[in-house]
Amino acid sequence: KVRVLSGIQPSGRLHLGNYLGAIRQWVQGQDEKENYFCIVDLHAITVWQDPDKLRAQTRELAALLLACGIDPQKSTLFIQSHVRAHAETQWILGCVTPLGWLYRMTQFKAKSEKEKQESVSTGLLTYPVLQAADILLYDADEVPVGEDQKQHIELTRDIAQRFNHLYGETFKLPKAVIPKSGARVMGFDDPTKKMSKSEVGEYHAVYLTDSPDRIRKVLRRAVTDSGREIIFSDAPEKAGVNNLLQIYESLTGKSREEIEAHFAGKGYGDLKKEVAEVIIEALRPIQERYQVYAQDPAELDRVLAIGAERARAVAEPKAEEVKRRVGFVLPK
Ligand code: TYM
Repeated sequence: KVRVLSGIQPSGRLHLGNYLGAIRQWVQGQDEKENYFCIVDLHAITVWQDPDKLRAQTRELAALLLACGIDPQKSTLFIQSHVRAHAETQWILGCVTPLGWLYRMTQFKAKSEKEKQESVSTGLLTYPVLQAADILLYDADEVPVGEDQKQHIELTRDIAQRFNHLYGETFKLPKAVIPKSGARVMGFDDPTKKMSKSEVGEYHAVYLTDSPDRIRKVLRRAVTDSGREIIFSDAPEKAGVNNLLQIYESLTGKSREEIEAHFAGKGYGDLKKEVAEVIIEALRPIQERYQVYAQDPAELDRVLAIGAERARAVAEPKAEEVKRRVGFVLPK
């Protein structure tokens, strides 16, 4: 069976980009693959998180992932910090990762530019090494992610190759799996920026728990352009319309020709309305199931405990192999 691992940060509310770029692929591949999905709390604290909020968000994220259709019978859902091997292996991988590789990461550059040098944590720089540990410990074949994570998966391959070269064949080289549409959902308030958990603008994103009214309001305000053509296009001025069409494509599964024909002669107002309704319908069953899990914390704990146990069963022997490879004396 193909083995899948992916991760998501509990650092804010889940938005449509997370869903279309990553989670939906996780759910769709569940039946035929062996799946590990990790809530990466260690990654979240690379930027300041309020402890009480982090705790609440971690549980909310778990409940939402189940509501999105992650089935604990078919997939292993776990919290990263419950499996010590991740943090442990990250140290060893960091020792074979040249600093230059990390400085080159666009996500690090973007995030560290925002903050003053003094307040950029070491963790923000070594973040992709931890991500590499997440993936390599499970011998994952595939890593389903949005476009923005592609570079981190390539780095993971580089780190794996370097380790294999230095210490002998240990790690499998994983590949990123990126969806055809929805891989890079842009902000509704600014279609030149990707939709992001850390943006605070009121009309930036649609969150998975948003009410139909709020979704309609955000879509009504979505930035488009002064033209009137409703077509898929890479032209910078069409970024807003293109974003709406890609969301529509991703949620309806219709072809681009069909979609363009459907909207021919209609206005941007119609486009926004229809996209809003498609989003509302897609989120409705998720929101209904979310209520069930959100009200049953004991069941959530049970699922996460089983997940952690299953994850440890894979990650711990692998972490031991890594220690043996580098020449550590294993405890008797
Ligand atoms: P995170 O938590 O930022 O995002 C989770 C997933 O959502 C995707 N995504 C998007 N897709 C489309 N459009 C967007 N606007 C958008 N924003 C986010 C991301 O690509 C991601 O797939 N470093 C990772 C977490 C991680 C991980 C891992 C992923 C830690 N370890 C191991 C894979 C494998 C991150 O910060 O994702």
